Amino acid sequence: MLTEIVEDYDAMSIRAATLVAQQINEKPDAVIGFATGSTPVGVYHHLIRMHRDEGLDFSKLTCFNLDEYIGLTPQHTQSYHHFMWQNLFLHVNVDPRSVFIPMGMANDPEKFCDWYEQQIQASGGVDLQLLGIGGNGHLAFNEPGASLGSRTRVTALTQDTIDANARFFESSQEVPATAITMGIGTILESKCLVLMASGEKKAQAIKATLEGPVMVMMPASAIQLHANVHVIIDKGAASALEYDHHDGIAESIRTDAS
Ligand code: F6R
Repeated sequence: MLTEIVEDYDAMSIRAATLVAQQINEKPDAVIGFATGSTPVGVYHHLIRMHRDEGLDFSKLTCFNLDEYIGLTPQHTQSYHHFMWQNLFLHVNVDPRSVFIPMGMANDPEKFCDWYEQQIQASGGVDLQLLGIGGNGHLAFNEPGASLGSRTRVTALTQDTIDANARFFESSQEVPATAITMGIGTILESKCLVLMASGEKKAQAIKATLEGPVMVMMPASAIQLHANVHVIIDKGAASALEYDHHDGIAESIRTDAS
């Protein structure tokens, strides 16, 4: 696990965008997994800049998103469809036929989840998956207690997550209580994971993810099981770490004066 601690949110965003751009340049028809939320907004800003100024080409990519609220139309301003198009896809030359985002209005959500898994398999699998992390350690909408082998499915959001996401809605009552999410097992099949976090509000979840045991109550800790993980966090998100993480090795940073 490679962990990079950078100065701030912008440095995190540039670093993650650079990793995505490297992946696209190495393999123009790569399959990229995207995330929503506040964390990747800066990454998308830099990817748009790289497309505009440096010709970063999205035209051959296949894109899969992690999750979507159940009950929101793609046009709803808080849907993850809307988020992705507004924050990235409308501003780059992605092929809309190659963009896959879970459909929160699917008639048969369970069937849709099976279809989504099949589309990921048919694409050859995700080459690089961007990930944020919830303050409670959730990964996509895999909340504490989610099986580490879980697949794309319908899931309930915890009250913590509903409260955290209420900032985007008029009130917490308006936040959907269920969502479709890629499972942890699905995410772990991506060839490379890039986990990002910014700010002290993520510090405990990052400490538990990087330094705690792998357990269902801390879904993001499942990344410890993956062989190719890049963690990019800023100083705030790293502020509770007890070990110095470098070159895939964690060494104690506690100094004993005696
Ligand atoms: C969204 C997702 C979520 C977020 C997490 C953090 O697609 O997968 O797990 O990454 O809720 O959200 P922010 O970035 O808003 O703090």
